[in-house]
Amino acid sequence: MKSYNIAVIPGDGTGPEVIAEGIKVLDAVSGKSGFKLNYTNFDFGGERYLRTGETLPAGAIEELKKFDAIFLGAIGHPDVKPGILEKGILLELRFKLDQYINLRPVKLYPGVDCPLKDKGPEHIDFVVIRENSEGLYAGAGGTLKKGTPDEVAIQESINTRKGVERCLRYAFEFTKKRNRHNKLTLCGKTNVLTFAFDLWQRAFNEIAPEYPSIKTGYAHVDAITMWFVKNPEWFDVIVTDNMFGDIITDLGAMIQGGMGIAAGGNLNPEGVSMFEPIGGSAPKYKGQNVINPLAAICAGGMMLEHLGETRAARAIETAAMEVTAKHIKSLAAGRMGLTTTQVGDLTAKLASAV
Ligand code: IPM
Ligand code: MN
Repeated sequence: MKSYNIAVIPGDGTGPEVIAEGIKVLDAVSGKSGFKLNYTNFDFGGERYLRTGETLPAGAIEELKKFDAIFLGAIGHPDVKPGILEKGILLELRFKLDQYINLRPVKLYPGVDCPLKDKGPEHIDFVVIRENSEGLYAGAGGTLKKGTPDEVAIQESINTRKGVERCLRYAFEFTKKRNRHNKLTLCGKTNVLTFAFDLWQRAFNEIAPEYPSIKTGYAHVDAITMWFVKNPEWFDVIVTDNMFGDIITDLGAMIQGGMGIAAGGNLNPEGVSMFEPIGGSAPKYKGQNVINPLAAICAGGMMLEHLGETRAARAIETAAMEVTAKHIKSLAAGRMGLTTTQVGDLTAKLASAV
């Protein structure tokens, strides 16, 4: 039987709880689809950092490169100063594994309460492709005269032609393969960030003729936040830089019902990719069996899709939709009407029956 080696990083807070449910569902669909998943656990996260002072140990990246994919719970610990774990683990993994695409579907599942008036599942189904290796996240810049009245802080956005182009090409290919509305929107700020988004816009315009079947559009980032709320049905696929992608996908998560359902993939199409629920470690719910595992379950589905196991991936999404439509009261932690493990059990059962 075909098998895949999966590196599992359960991480902090509720990460281990949701990852356990994710694995439960993955195992419920794999056999029937003719493959097997072998898991290897890694204890990277806040607990390990507090114990050892280490974020990612030496050799971790080389070790992870040997796997077919990485399944990540959440990184973030209330006792660790902000920035250390984010930069030392999550961003380090994204950068060192060159996961240059952050793929974030925004889809309103049936039965889910949408905060937007008069909008339903037929209006909210798009994908944000966030550049994941450059921009303001590259860490370029520095401070001068720190702590004095003359302090200077510079944080530069790095946009390379190669980095922008590989992201845009991925986005065009993705839009074509998705074949929904065949529409790709570039999200930027060409009216103010006239260096960075001039590069993005020129590269976008140069690639577009290679995809005559794809309709192209452009939206400024501030305007897109308005349209996500007013006319989310306008969007099919959106491509944007790292910082704007970070911001608009949190808004995206809210219009699809909240962090309880939002999943994402950090992709290196030529290397190892990593899949995660995007909601964070939610430490206040740790150990209570109340957190919603559907985001992690859906991230597992995205991982299977990425591995080419389309049938099994669809089974997971179908089951998750049935759960939201018929079985849980709310996506919010503690208000689902079921426990974390019950949602996992139910989704696994439904998925294996698809
Ligand atoms: C995300 C998160 C991260 C980011 C943080 C935790 C570094 O917000 O995955 O969107 O900014 O990319
Ligand atoms: Mn974010």
